Amino acid sequence: MDLKGKHFLKMLDFTPEEINGLVDLSLRLKDEKKSGKSQAAYLAGKNIALIFEKTSTRTRCSFEVAAHDMGAHVTYLDPSGSQIGKKESIADTARVLGRMYDGIEYRGFEQEKVEALAKFAGVPVWNGLTNESHPTQMIADMMTIKEHFGKLKGIKFVYMGDARYNMGNSLMVTCAKLGMDFVACTNEKYFPEKWLVEKCEEIAKETGATITLTSDVAAGCKDADVIYTDVWVSMGEPDAVWEERIKELSPYQVNAEAFSYAKPNAKFMHCLPAFHDLNTTIGLQIHDKFGIDCMEVTDEIFESERSIVFDEAENRMHSIKAVMYATLGDVR
Ligand code: CP
Ligand code: NVA
Repeated sequence: MDLKGKHFLKMLDFTPEEINGLVDLSLRLKDEKKSGKSQAAYLAGKNIALIFEKTSTRTRCSFEVAAHDMGAHVTYLDPSGSQIGKKESIADTARVLGRMYDGIEYRGFEQEKVEALAKFAGVPVWNGLTNESHPTQMIADMMTIKEHFGKLKGIKFVYMGDARYNMGNSLMVTCAKLGMDFVACTNEKYFPEKWLVEKCEEIAKETGATITLTSDVAAGCKDADVIYTDVWVSMGEPDAVWEERIKELSPYQVNAEAFSYAKPNAKFMHCLPAFHDLNTTIGLQIHDKFGIDCMEVTDEIFESERSIVFDEAENRMHSIKAVMYATLGDVR
């Protein structure tokens, strides 16, 4: 795997070897951190810009901690703290930041923005989430599956809920690349876009993966190793869609019934944040309006032994470290 100087924008850009290489590097970096080995020389003296046009807990903290551990410095630009888009184009911003920083993380709306940033920056650009994709989350998710199952190839991975947004898209591509059995189990209105499904089917022919789209929960979840979900309304979508989403996606909530069809040791995953109880402002508002006390996953499943969501969240940091080290450092 030689990714030095490359951008990290979407999973379609990477070979199975490169993705597996990043997963294995993440696992190595996690072991090093747990054993107390210093990683401060890996990116010593590098400067990194973190641009967030949407809010974040995991991604921002992962980039910051990963950079600090590896000896790099960060500047955080919050959703209101820069001129981007409002007074200055992406192309101009990229050319300014590229003169000062060695690498740039960008979280925003359209994928074309992060692609434009990469085109003009002259330094590696990492996609910290767009409407269309969430590639750093993929390395953490695959790393977490490998830790729990010892392998990726042949894993039956079921995604329930909104499968046509960043998480569903990226997971389908990643599973296709890694020879996994991907199932989008949801209302057909929320299946990933046709062109992407066709692309993944082509990739699957090479890797031995399978791609299945179904609206039948029993068939979709049958013998699953992993059941995954995400919020039903993503950042940047209007509040007006909540009612429709709740109606259309409630049959695809991850709950005890979904797991009754899965393998006995099946695991629950979620990129987080999750609406599994009433301890959030939005969760409470939805409860008051629609009378439900959880959404994409029940609290019972979220809090169960099956749930590996906090391993997954921790692994965001180790895997983002791997992405930055591989594209900016000299991996040895
Ligand atoms: N999973 C994820 O990207 O979380 P944040 O939005 O908190 O960064
Ligand atoms: N689909 C979610 C993912 C959050 C990590 C969103 O875009 O808000």
